[in-house]
Amino acid sequence: MAGIKNPEMDEELFEKPKTNGVGQNQYERVIEGCRLNVKMVSQNEWRLAEIISRCRASNGSMKFYVHYVDCNRRLDEWVMSDLLDLSTLRMPQKGGKKGAQSREENKDGNDAEGKKGRKRKIPLVPLEEMKAEVPDPLQIVPAVPSGSTPSLRGSMSMVGHSEDAMTRIRNIECIELGRSRIQPWYFSPYPQQLTSLDCIYICEFCLKYLKSATCLRRHMEKCALPHPPGNQIYSYDKLSFFEIDGRKNKSYAQNLCLLAKLFLDHKTLYYDTDPFLFYVLTEEDEKGHHIVGYFSKEKESAEEYNVACILVLPSFQKKGYGSLLIEFSYELSKIEQKTGSPEKPLSDLGLLSYRSYWSMAIMKELFAFKQRHPGEDITVQDISASTSIKREDVVSTLQQLDLYKYYRGQYVIVISEEKRQVYENRIEATKKKRRINPTALQWRPKEYGKKRTQSTF
Ligand code: ACO
Ligand code: ZN
Repeated sequence: MAGIKNPEMDEELFEKPKTNGVGQNQYERVIEGCRLNVKMVSQNEWRLAEIISRCRASNGSMKFYVHYVDCNRRLDEWVMSDLLDLSTLRMPQKGGKKGAQSREENKDGNDAEGKKGRKRKIPLVPLEEMKAEVPDPLQIVPAVPSGSTPSLRGSMSMVGHSEDAMTRIRNIECIELGRSRIQPWYFSPYPQQLTSLDCIYICEFCLKYLKSATCLRRHMEKCALPHPPGNQIYSYDKLSFFEIDGRKNKSYAQNLCLLAKLFLDHKTLYYDTDPFLFYVLTEEDEKGHHIVGYFSKEKESAEEYNVACILVLPSFQKKGYGSLLIEFSYELSKIEQKTGSPEKPLSDLGLLSYRSYWSMAIMKELFAFKQRHPGEDITVQDISASTSIKREDVVSTLQQLDLYKYYRGQYVIVISEEKRQVYENRIEATKKKRRINPTALQWRPKEYGKKRTQSTF
């Protein structure tokens, strides 16, 4: 075994097995909720892992779906029994279903980053409605485990319950979308028949899912859309944003949510897409506008969220599109003359992207303010007003950058010459990256709440 340091076992929740079996049967002891060291082949190291599920492979030997403790769930995988280190096996204690709960969700219900927060929402139309609205070549069967009816709020995330296992296991092997073949990261409630296929085929324009390349080809001959539905509210440098109303374009919205769920963990699936707008970013070529990513936004958010869910499809990730989506969401907030914040909790990648965006946006504003008002002090309120970044996010970013100091009874923003240089260089570097051109944004906010009130008279 490679000499790596494993996270410690939680002795209160796990106990050593009483017997030590031999041969293939010894793996019978490895049940859901157990923890033991597992060889993580992609990293070539042993890590503490939790057994989420198990089954027999076609050759009769057992295979196990494992979650590596303290790792993101997108690394969860099926492994064969020879990758398990049985000498480290710890059984979950009786009644200790909690033991089966990942450390990513600790006892207070906090997420990996230690923040409290309700689960993020992702709207999903009821399955009955899916049947009614989306004519599908396949018979649609709910992909939720039988006997585990989703709650009224449509929660598909049932961490800590025995029925969880299915929604914790990646159920789609591969998707083909446009020119990309992508391996999903997480469970998404696609119809059950699709889960046994090697690949599902998704129309990149209307996001309809099909069972074969032939079905997709036939569909593409008929699919009238060379772009997402809705209004094109931004177009610049081959990039466009389409605004889609979850009420008016339900089937597109639900297909987008199903697709997004493949890459978003900790989601509560909502049955109702009506309260959301979807902003889809596309790249244009001679064939049409190809989806790159999107963010959703509640039409009315009591918590001042300006983004509910945000996603860049894996084939486009780490190329600056995430920053572009975030920048766009704040441009909308600027037009609304509001401050906004992403819905919590953020994923690990979401946090990285937001931290990076906030740091740059705040530093740019600090320097611009100094140029406009030499000798004057800038307040958190000033920064928040001109960037539309919510006050709390401005403060947490300044704290994280170690620029927010308590001095003579009050908090002040202090930036050393050294840091100023570092950030000026970074800002210079970001100028080469693609940015949103606010003049290319044609958008006015609608008053959804007011409209509803008016319609009652
Ligand atoms: N590892 C390290 N850093 C990363 C990574 C990564 N895998 N991905 C992004 N970053 C950093 C980048 O370095 C960059 O920082 P920099 O500008 O200082 O260099 C910053 O994050 C943004 O990078 P982009 O290339 O603009 O981001 P990307 O296009 O990859 O999109 C996103 C980021 C949307 C979070 C993407 O990773 C994604 O879709 N992930 C899956 C879904 C998800 O987690 N969404 C967020 C959920 S939170 C919510 O919905 C409110
Ligand atoms: Zn289509």
